[in-house]
Amino acid sequence: MTDRIALIEQALSGFLPEKDGDIDTVIDSMNYSLTAGGKRVRPVLTLEFAKLCGGEEKNALPFACAVEMIHTYSLIHDDLPCMDDDDMRRGKPTNHKVFGEAQAVLGGDALLTLAFETILSENALKLNGAEKCVKAGRILAECAGAEGMIGGQIIDIESEEMSVGVDRLRIMDRKKTGALIKAACLLGCISAGADEKQMKAAECYAEKIGLAFQIVDDMLDVTSDETTLGKPIGSDEQNKKSTYVSCLGLDECRRIADELTKNAIKSLDAFSGDTCELRIFAEKLRDRNK
Ligand code: IPE
Ligand code: IPE
Ligand code: MG
Ligand code: MG
Ligand code: MG
Repeated sequence: MTDRIALIEQALSGFLPEKDGDIDTVIDSMNYSLTAGGKRVRPVLTLEFAKLCGGEEKNALPFACAVEMIHTYSLIHDDLPCMDDDDMRRGKPTNHKVFGEAQAVLGGDALLTLAFETILSENALKLNGAEKCVKAGRILAECAGAEGMIGGQIIDIESEEMSVGVDRLRIMDRKKTGALIKAACLLGCISAGADEKQMKAAECYAEKIGLAFQIVDDMLDVTSDETTLGKPIGSDEQNKKSTYVSCLGLDECRRIADELTKNAIKSLDAFSGDTCELRIFAEKLRDRNK
Protein backbone atom coordinates (compact mmCIF):
# COMPACT_ATOMS: atom_id res chain seq x y z
CA MET A 1 0.00 0.00 0.00
CA THR A 2 2.83 2.43 0.85
CA ASP A 3 4.46 1.74 -2.53
CA ARG A 4 1.21 2.46 -4.24
CA ILE A 5 0.75 5.75 -2.39
CA ALA A 6 4.33 6.75 -3.29
CA LEU A 7 3.52 5.97 -6.93
CA ILE A 8 0.36 8.10 -6.78
CA GLU A 9 2.17 11.00 -5.11
CA GLN A 10 4.98 10.95 -7.64
CA ALA A 11 2.47 10.95 -10.50
CA LEU A 12 0.46 13.78 -8.93
CA SER A 13 3.56 15.99 -8.72
CA GLY A 14 4.44 15.09 -12.30
CA PHE A 15 1.11 16.40 -13.58
CA LEU A 16 1.54 19.84 -12.00
CA PRO A 17 2.54 22.65 -14.39
CA GLU A 18 6.12 23.97 -14.21
CA LYS A 19 6.73 27.31 -12.55
CA ASP A 20 7.69 30.00 -15.09
CA GLY A 21 7.95 33.14 -12.97
CA ASP A 22 4.60 34.57 -14.12
CA ILE A 23 2.04 32.22 -12.57
CA ASP A 24 4.06 30.79 -9.69
CA THR A 25 1.59 31.70 -6.93
CA VAL A 26 -1.20 29.59 -8.33
CA ILE A 27 1.17 26.67 -8.91
CA ASP A 28 2.47 27.00 -5.35
CA SER A 29 -1.12 27.00 -4.08
CA MET A 30 -1.99 23.86 -6.11
CA ASN A 31 1.22 22.12 -5.12
CA TYR A 32 0.81 22.98 -1.42
CA SER A 33 -2.51 21.18 -1.04
CA LEU A 34 -1.92 18.39 -3.55
CA THR A 35 1.33 17.31 -1.90
CA ALA A 36 0.20 17.90 1.70
CA GLY A 37 -0.50 14.20 2.15
CA GLY A 38 -3.97 12.91 2.85
CA LYS A 39 -4.99 9.31 2.86
CA ARG A 40 -5.26 9.03 -0.95
CA VAL A 41 -8.37 6.87 -0.54
CA ARG A 42 -9.83 7.71 -3.93
CA PRO A 43 -6.80 7.08 -6.17
CA VAL A 44 -6.10 3.83 -4.32
CA LEU A 45 -9.67 2.74 -5.12
CA THR A 46 -9.14 3.56 -8.80
CA LEU A 47 -6.01 1.42 -8.96
CA GLU A 48 -7.64 -1.42 -6.98
CA PHE A 49 -10.64 -1.62 -9.30
CA ALA A 50 -8.42 -1.47 -12.38
CA LYS A 51 -6.49 -4.45 -11.06
CA LEU A 52 -9.62 -6.36 -10.03
CA CYS A 53 -11.11 -5.95 -13.50
CA GLY A 54 -7.96 -7.30 -15.15
CA GLY A 55 -6.36 -3.99 -16.14
CA GLU A 56 -2.95 -2.45 -15.55
CA GLU A 57 -2.63 -0.11 -12.56
CA LYS A 58 -0.20 2.13 -14.45
CA ASN A 59 -2.83 2.77 -17.16
CA ALA A 60 -5.33 3.84 -14.51
CA LEU A 61 -2.83 6.17 -12.82
CA PRO A 62 -3.77 9.36 -14.72
CA PHE A 63 -7.45 8.68 -13.92
CA ALA A 64 -6.58 8.08 -10.25
CA CYS A 65 -4.66 11.38 -10.12
CA ALA A 66 -7.54 13.26 -11.77
CA VAL A 67 -9.94 12.12 -9.03
CA GLU A 68 -7.47 13.13 -6.30
CA MET A 69 -7.05 16.58 -7.92
CA ILE A 70 -10.81 17.14 -7.79
CA HIS A 71 -10.96 15.87 -4.22
CA THR A 72 -8.12 18.22 -3.18
CA TYR A 73 -9.78 21.21 -4.84
CA SER A 74 -13.04 20.35 -3.04
CA LEU A 75 -11.19 20.43 0.28
CA ILE A 76 -9.50 23.80 -0.45
CA HIS A 77 -12.90 25.34 -1.20
CA ASP A 78 -14.64 23.47 1.66
CA ASP A 79 -12.24 25.12 4.14
CA LEU A 80 -12.77 28.70 2.91
CA PRO A 81 -14.27 31.27 5.30
CA CYS A 82 -17.47 31.37 3.21
CA MET A 83 -17.82 27.57 3.56
CA ASP A 84 -16.67 25.66 6.68
CA ASP A 85 -14.07 28.28 7.68
CA ASP A 86 -11.42 25.84 8.90
CA ASP A 87 -7.77 26.62 9.62
CA MET A 88 -6.09 23.21 9.41
CA ARG A 89 -6.11 20.53 6.72
CA ARG A 90 -3.92 17.45 6.31
CA GLY A 91 -1.94 18.59 9.34
CA LYS A 92 -1.06 21.97 7.86
CA PRO A 93 -2.64 25.43 7.76
CA THR A 94 -5.41 25.54 5.16
CA ASN A 95 -4.64 26.85 1.69
CA HIS A 96 -6.30 30.25 2.21
CA LYS A 97 -4.41 30.73 5.49
CA VAL A 98 -1.12 30.45 3.61
CA PHE A 99 -1.88 32.01 0.24
CA GLY A 100 -4.97 34.18 0.85
CA GLU A 101 -8.56 33.61 -0.18
CA ALA A 102 -8.37 34.61 -3.84
CA GLN A 103 -5.29 32.46 -4.35
CA ALA A 104 -7.00 29.51 -2.65
CA VAL A 105 -10.10 29.86 -4.83
CA LEU A 106 -7.92 30.02 -7.94
CA GLY A 107 -5.63 27.18 -6.82
CA GLY A 108 -8.75 25.06 -6.34
CA ASP A 109 -10.16 26.08 -9.72
CA ALA A 110 -6.84 25.24 -11.37
CA LEU A 111 -6.79 21.76 -9.78
CA LEU A 112 -10.34 21.14 -11.01
CA THR A 113 -9.29 22.10 -14.53
CA LEU A 114 -6.04 20.13 -14.33
CA ALA A 115 -8.06 16.99 -13.56
CA PHE A 116 -9.65 17.08 -17.01
CA GLU A 117 -6.39 18.11 -18.67
CA THR A 118 -4.87 14.99 -17.08
CA ILE A 119 -7.65 12.65 -18.24
CA LEU A 120 -7.26 14.01 -21.78
CA SER A 121 -3.44 14.17 -21.68
CA GLU A 122 -1.26 12.48 -24.32
CA ASN A 123 -0.15 10.14 -21.55
CA ALA A 124 -3.70 9.07 -20.62
CA LEU A 125 -4.72 8.72 -24.28
CA LYS A 126 -1.68 6.59 -25.06
CA LEU A 127 -2.31 4.29 -22.10
CA ASN A 128 -6.10 3.96 -22.37
CA GLY A 129 -7.23 5.08 -25.83
CA ALA A 130 -9.61 7.93 -26.62
CA GLU A 131 -12.86 6.07 -25.94
CA LYS A 132 -11.97 5.20 -22.34
CA CYS A 133 -10.65 8.71 -21.65
CA VAL A 134 -13.89 10.28 -22.91
CA LYS A 135 -15.96 7.90 -20.78
CA ALA A 136 -13.79 8.58 -17.72
CA GLY A 137 -14.02 12.34 -18.25
CA ARG A 138 -17.79 12.23 -18.58
CA ILE A 139 -18.29 10.19 -15.41
CA LEU A 140 -15.86 12.33 -13.42
CA ALA A 141 -17.58 15.52 -14.57
CA GLU A 142 -21.01 14.14 -13.63
CA CYS A 143 -19.83 13.02 -10.20
CA ALA A 144 -17.96 16.27 -9.44
CA GLY A 145 -20.60 18.68 -10.73
CA ALA A 146 -23.96 20.09 -9.68
CA GLU A 147 -25.60 16.68 -9.57
CA GLY A 148 -22.69 15.18 -7.66
CA MET A 149 -20.17 16.63 -5.18
CA ILE A 150 -21.12 20.29 -5.74
CA GLY A 151 -24.78 19.40 -5.29
CA GLY A 152 -23.97 17.78 -1.96
CA GLN A 153 -21.98 20.82 -0.86
CA ILE A 154 -24.87 23.18 -1.66
CA ILE A 155 -27.28 21.04 0.38
CA ASP A 156 -24.70 21.04 3.20
CA ILE A 157 -24.35 24.83 3.18
CA GLU A 158 -28.08 25.47 2.88
CA SER A 159 -28.81 23.06 5.74
CA GLU A 160 -26.71 24.94 8.27
CA GLU A 161 -28.69 26.00 11.33
CA MET A 162 -31.58 23.78 10.22
CA SER A 163 -32.75 20.51 11.59
CA VAL A 164 -32.48 18.11 8.67
CA GLY A 165 -33.89 14.57 8.60
CA VAL A 166 -31.89 11.43 7.87
CA ASP A 167 -33.40 11.06 4.38
CA ARG A 168 -32.07 14.48 3.37
CA LEU A 169 -28.70 13.73 5.00
CA ARG A 170 -28.45 10.53 2.99
CA ILE A 171 -29.04 12.45 -0.24
CA MET A 172 -26.50 15.10 0.80
CA ASP A 173 -23.77 12.63 1.82
CA ARG A 174 -24.24 10.44 -1.25
CA LYS A 175 -23.62 13.48 -3.36
CA LYS A 176 -20.97 15.41 -1.46
CA THR A 177 -18.78 12.41 -0.63
CA GLY A 178 -20.28 9.33 -2.29
CA ALA A 179 -20.21 10.71 -5.82
CA LEU A 180 -16.42 11.19 -6.02
CA ILE A 181 -15.81 7.82 -4.39
CA LYS A 182 -18.08 6.30 -7.03
CA ALA A 183 -16.12 8.09 -9.76
CA ALA A 184 -12.87 6.75 -8.28
CA CYS A 185 -14.09 3.14 -8.44
CA LEU A 186 -15.69 3.46 -11.88
CA LEU A 187 -12.65 5.11 -13.47
CA GLY A 188 -10.56 2.10 -12.44
CA CYS A 189 -13.13 -0.18 -14.07
CA ILE A 190 -13.18 1.94 -17.23
CA SER A 191 -9.41 1.88 -17.59
CA ALA A 192 -9.52 -1.93 -17.37
CA GLY A 193 -12.34 -2.21 -19.93
CA ALA A 194 -14.77 -3.67 -17.36
CA ASP A 195 -18.16 -5.00 -18.45
CA GLU A 196 -21.58 -3.71 -17.32
CA LYS A 197 -21.90 -6.26 -14.53
CA GLN A 198 -18.52 -5.25 -13.08
CA MET A 199 -19.41 -1.55 -13.36
CA LYS A 200 -22.71 -2.13 -11.52
CA ALA A 201 -21.00 -4.07 -8.72
CA ALA A 202 -18.29 -1.39 -8.37
CA GLU A 203 -21.00 1.26 -8.17
CA CYS A 204 -22.81 -0.69 -5.47
CA TYR A 205 -19.59 -1.10 -3.40
CA ALA A 206 -18.81 2.60 -3.87
CA GLU A 207 -22.25 3.79 -2.79
CA LYS A 208 -22.02 1.84 0.45
CA ILE A 209 -18.45 2.77 1.40
CA GLY A 210 -19.07 6.36 0.26
CA LEU A 211 -21.92 6.88 2.70
CA ALA A 212 -20.08 5.01 5.45
CA PHE A 213 -17.04 7.24 4.80
CA GLN A 214 -18.96 10.46 5.46
CA ILE A 215 -20.67 8.99 8.53
CA VAL A 216 -17.26 8.06 9.98
CA ASP A 217 -15.96 11.54 9.06
CA ASP A 218 -18.84 13.06 11.03
CA MET A 219 -18.08 10.74 13.97
CA LEU A 220 -14.38 11.67 13.96
CA ASP A 221 -15.33 15.35 14.06
CA VAL A 222 -16.71 14.56 17.52
CA THR A 223 -14.48 11.76 18.83
CA SER A 224 -10.98 12.47 17.46
CA ASP A 225 -8.41 15.17 18.16
CA GLU A 226 -6.85 17.72 15.82
CA THR A 227 -3.36 16.22 15.88
CA THR A 228 -4.55 12.78 14.82
CA LEU A 229 -7.11 14.06 12.33
CA GLY A 230 -4.95 16.79 10.77
CA LYS A 231 -8.00 19.08 10.71
CA PRO A 232 -10.03 20.79 13.44
CA ILE A 233 -12.54 18.82 15.46
CA GLY A 234 -15.91 20.26 16.45
CA SER A 235 -16.16 22.02 13.08
CA ASP A 236 -19.64 20.60 12.38
CA GLU A 237 -21.07 21.69 15.72
CA GLN A 238 -19.50 25.13 15.39
CA ASN A 239 -21.08 25.57 11.96
CA LYS A 240 -24.42 24.20 13.23
CA LYS A 241 -24.36 21.40 10.64
CA SER A 242 -26.85 18.59 10.64
CA THR A 243 -24.91 15.33 10.45
CA TYR A 244 -25.65 11.66 11.00
CA VAL A 245 -24.12 12.12 14.45
CA SER A 246 -26.27 15.11 15.43
CA CYS A 247 -29.36 13.28 14.13
CA LEU A 248 -28.81 9.74 15.37
CA GLY A 249 -25.98 9.74 17.91
CA LEU A 250 -22.63 7.94 17.84
CA ASP A 251 -23.84 4.40 18.61
CA GLU A 252 -26.38 4.33 15.82
CA CYS A 253 -23.79 5.84 13.44
CA ARG A 254 -21.36 3.07 14.33
CA ARG A 255 -24.05 0.47 13.62
CA ILE A 256 -25.01 2.02 10.25
CA ALA A 257 -21.36 2.37 9.15
CA ASP A 258 -20.81 -1.28 10.00
CA GLU A 259 -23.93 -2.42 8.14
CA LEU A 260 -22.97 -0.37 5.06
CA THR A 261 -19.45 -1.80 5.13
CA LYS A 262 -20.77 -5.38 5.31
CA ASN A 263 -23.11 -4.70 2.39
CA ALA A 264 -20.28 -3.11 0.41
CA ILE A 265 -18.20 -6.24 0.93
CA LYS A 266 -21.14 -8.40 -0.19
CA SER A 267 -21.32 -6.55 -3.48
CA LEU A 268 -17.77 -7.72 -4.23
CA ASP A 269 -19.18 -11.27 -4.69
CA ALA A 270 -20.06 -10.29 -8.26
CA PHE A 271 -16.34 -10.25 -9.18
CA SER A 272 -14.50 -13.41 -10.13
CA GLY A 273 -11.06 -11.99 -9.18
CA ASP A 274 -9.43 -11.68 -5.76
CA THR A 275 -11.39 -9.08 -3.78
CA CYS A 276 -9.48 -9.51 -0.52
CA GLU A 277 -7.76 -6.10 -0.68
CA LEU A 278 -11.00 -4.22 -1.33
CA ARG A 279 -12.68 -6.05 1.55
CA ILE A 280 -9.86 -5.09 3.92
CA PHE A 281 -9.89 -1.55 2.54
CA ALA A 282 -13.60 -1.12 3.33
CA GLU A 283 -13.02 -2.37 6.88
CA LYS A 284 -10.04 -0.05 7.34
CA LEU A 285 -12.11 2.95 6.26
CA ARG A 286 -14.80 1.99 8.77
CA ASP A 287 -12.25 1.57 11.58
CA ARG A 288 -10.00 4.53 10.76
CA ASN A 289 -9.03 7.13 13.33
CA LYS A 290 -8.25 9.91 10.81
C1 IPE B 1 -12.28 14.47 3.72
O1 IPE B 1 -11.84 13.46 2.89
C2 IPE B 1 -13.53 15.05 3.21
C3 IPE B 1 -14.64 14.10 3.08
C4 IPE B 1 -15.18 13.84 1.96
C5 IPE B 1 -15.17 13.45 4.26
P1 IPE B 1 -10.61 12.54 3.31
O2 IPE B 1 -10.83 12.04 4.71
O3 IPE B 1 -10.40 11.51 2.26
O4 IPE B 1 -9.41 13.58 3.33
P2 IPE B 1 -7.86 13.36 2.98
O5 IPE B 1 -7.77 13.28 1.50
O6 IPE B 1 -7.40 12.10 3.67
O7 IPE B 1 -7.20 14.59 3.52
C1 IPE C 1 -16.77 17.80 2.90
O1 IPE C 1 -17.37 17.31 4.05
C2 IPE C 1 -16.96 17.01 1.74
C3 IPE C 1 -16.41 17.65 0.53
C4 IPE C 1 -17.00 17.53 -0.58
C5 IPE C 1 -15.16 18.42 0.57
P1 IPE C 1 -16.77 17.92 5.38
O2 IPE C 1 -16.88 19.38 5.38
O3 IPE C 1 -17.33 17.17 6.53
O4 IPE C 1 -15.22 17.50 5.19
P2 IPE C 1 -14.10 17.87 6.25
O5 IPE C 1 -14.55 17.28 7.58
O6 IPE C 1 -13.97 19.35 6.29
O7 IPE C 1 -12.88 17.15 5.72
MG1 MG D 1 -18.03 20.82 4.49
MG1 MG E 1 -15.35 20.78 6.07
MG1 MG F 1 -16.24 16.54 8.21
